[in-house]
Amino acid sequence: MTSYKELGLVNTKEMFAKAVKGGYAIPAYNFNNMEQLQAIIMACVETKSPVILQVSKGARDYANMNILRNMARGATEYAKELGCEIPIVLHLDHGDSFETCKECIDNGFSSVMIDGSHFPYDENVALTKKVVEYAHQFGVTVEGELGVLAGIEDEVSSAVSHYTQPSEVIDFVSKTGVDSLAISIGTSHGANKFTPEQCTRNAEGILIPPPLRFDILEEIEKKLPGFPIVLHGSSSVPMEYVNMINEYGGKLKDSVGIPEEQLRLASKSAVCKINIDSDARLAMTAMVRKVFAEKPGEFDPRKYLGPARAELKKMYMHKNIDVLGSAGQA
Ligand code: G3H
Ligand code: 13P
Ligand code: ZN
Repeated sequence: MTSYKELGLVNTKEMFAKAVKGGYAIPAYNFNNMEQLQAIIMACVETKSPVILQVSKGARDYANMNILRNMARGATEYAKELGCEIPIVLHLDHGDSFETCKECIDNGFSSVMIDGSHFPYDENVALTKKVVEYAHQFGVTVEGELGVLAGIEDEVSSAVSHYTQPSEVIDFVSKTGVDSLAISIGTSHGANKFTPEQCTRNAEGILIPPPLRFDILEEIEKKLPGFPIVLHGSSSVPMEYVNMINEYGGKLKDSVGIPEEQLRLASKSAVCKINIDSDARLAMTAMVRKVFAEKPGEFDPRKYLGPARAELKKMYMHKNIDVLGSAGQA
């Protein structure tokens, strides 16, 4: 058993309390490799932002649990070396079973998500409660989910979203004892969050998505005053990166994300954790494609992963400063 404290990590308790009070959201960035992790830490140290490092099942399959756990340890030491001891959480993203959550808790994660949102309500309650009871013995915080996001959530996929029902939230939180709640108000996973039919087009032909359901968020906030709320699927899918990918040989079609102004607004509410993965994938792919197109003779991975890492850092800094408002809060 490795305690998260040995790795220099913290849980989400204090971080979320401060974020809800302060009207900002903590960035929850997924990582699968060294360059992503370095970029996240550099950006968060430079902007003095707390951060949640997220590991999905896909990331564990790709990179190995032991390696990821030790990378998180490295990240806490790297942040200190860069001159700022920012609070860092290692979080399991979309935990799919009690066993997966237990394995992560036993291996130094300071926070886990148990995603029972696709189960019938009572099963979601029972599973989430079981994870909370285990996690809390070790000071590990737990995120639950009510409502289903469209798109792929790790290996669970849903074609349509089901908004969170505000009438269920008090019962769910009190029965399970979760520390935070992910809700569905119109965000979804991936780079194609809405079909063109769900959007309107502006004068330049750009797809404009329907607004998030802030009315549902407000109702939930009224039912659970001050309780930490989480938004998944919150990439903005910057056109700059989509265009760059397509200019250099990619084929991304009908890509559309959540407008940054809406995330800025959500950050000022009880939403205190915002999950971003796809935007990092886009930034990295755009930069790698650019280098490949402009320097076809290049074959040193550092020569294309280096520029990709620099672009990622720039993007994360922008999120912390201009979107989530977490800059200066470490
Ligand atoms: O919620 C989904 C995240 O973007 C993780 O995706 O399972 O492909 O690593 P992944
Ligand atoms: P995006 O696909 O919008 O980046 O969402 C990521 C996420 O919710 C990870 O849990
Ligand atoms: Zn998610």
